[in-house]
Amino acid sequence: MTDVAIVGAGYVGVPLAQVFAEAGRSVLLVDRDAERVDRLNAGDSYIEDVPSEVLGRLVRDHGLRATTDYDELRDADAILIALPTPLSKQREPDLSIVNGATEEIAKRLRAGHLVVLESTTYPGTTREEVLPRLEASGLRVGEDFSLAFSPERVDPGREDWTTKNVPKVVGGITEACTDRAAALYEGAVDTVHRVTSPESAELTKLLENIFRSVNIALVNELAQLCERMKIDFWEVVDAAATKPFGFMSFKPGPGLGGHCIPIDPFYLTWKAREYDFYTEFIELAGKVNENMPYYCRSLISQALNHGKGLSLSSANVLVLGVAYKPGIGDMRESPALKLIDLLLAGGSNVSYHDPHVPELPEYQLSSVPLEPESFDCVAIVTDHAGIDYEALVDRGAVIVDFRNATGERGRTSDTVWKL
Ligand SMILES: NC(=O)c1ccc[n+]([C@@H]2O[C@H](COP(=O)([O-])OP(=O)(O)OC[C@H]3O[C@@H](n4cnc5c(N)ncnc54)[C@H](O)[C@@H]3O)[C@@H](O)[C@H]2O)c1
Repeated sequence: MTDVAIVGAGYVGVPLAQVFAEAGRSVLLVDRDAERVDRLNAGDSYIEDVPSEVLGRLVRDHGLRATTDYDELRDADAILIALPTPLSKQREPDLSIVNGATEEIAKRLRAGHLVVLESTTYPGTTREEVLPRLEASGLRVGEDFSLAFSPERVDPGREDWTTKNVPKVVGGITEACTDRAAALYEGAVDTVHRVTSPESAELTKLLENIFRSVNIALVNELAQLCERMKIDFWEVVDAAATKPFGFMSFKPGPGLGGHCIPIDPFYLTWKAREYDFYTEFIELAGKVNENMPYYCRSLISQALNHGKGLSLSSANVLVLGVAYKPGIGDMRESPALKLIDLLLAGGSNVSYHDPHVPELPEYQLSSVPLEPESFDCVAIVTDHAGIDYEALVDRGAVIVDFRNATGERGRTSDTVWKL
């Protein structure tokens, strides 16, 4: 018997498996990618938050296993779904992976099963998409099986807040479903917060991500104004952050990245249309944030022009940091990719340095040594730790700093352009 089966062994599924395994549960990861499954069973991790030595110990001492075989779900008490929820090319929710997997689960559903959807999605997905597919098995929710939604709130690369200590929000189709799901999580994570429906739980996660998207757009817009007004916006944000209440600090940057914030808000936009409602904050934030790589290209162009008398088309540009955020190698939706596209389209010769991303196969590029003297301009896109950014300034490079990585040295240097 398996206590907990997790379908989808990615950024969400693997840390979730760790938390349940460490709480003494027998855990099975189900993934369609046979290579990933082999690596998991060999204790060889591809998720930076769960290093191989930790995964190896879980496999060896706690019986954590992985499989490609959905049939093994029959023997699980609980089935958690942690599968991707992307947008289609038309920027509409693409639930095909979750729905396809749910149909596979339905074929193996039995009385007593608890199913929890963890993937980020619009309010109504659990009730309107997952429930009918599971009930097509002939079993009934609340009588034969339990169904709930509980959003994953993990922030990959973060060590202070993890899958274990971030409170888990749970909302079931029935009160008994909520109780069952809450009891499962209470045995593994520090805090469980119940809500009265899956819709509330679904919207909770979207509210969190929309809140970030809107606030990032606000500081991105003000950063552009400050460039015209010749005010150091980073200093302003730091000063505002000294207010002990009523203000939360957000930093401008070259655009949104990652699987969540550039994508999730549009799940709600799409659903809202069904109710003749236009989510204007989400759209406006999307517009400002999506424009940032274009704005950053124009800053690079200005820096080359004023710093070197060069145009984009004759410049060698080093993009420093390409992952979507510091400390990890995750490239999903990274604004660095858009910026590289724009620089290449402008005729620049582009190289990159990133200690977490050795290759960018789609551009046939490999991370090059960090030698600023070899480039006309260094664009700091992602400020990984372990790089001495102030020393780069001292080496006289023309730097465009989208992260305030060069700090005070960059502020007073005439070879550094800051967002
Ligand atoms: N990554 C994050 O930081 C994060 C944080 C919170 C919530 N989420 C949400 O969690 C969900 C999962 O995201 P993720 O980042 O873990 O995705 P991921 O891409 O890292 O992992 C998904 C895994 O599912 C597997 N898979 C795909 N289709 C499958 C199928 N039909 N059957 C079995 N396995 C299949 C893939 O091989 C992959 O290993 C998404 O809805 C995402 O929005 C992600």
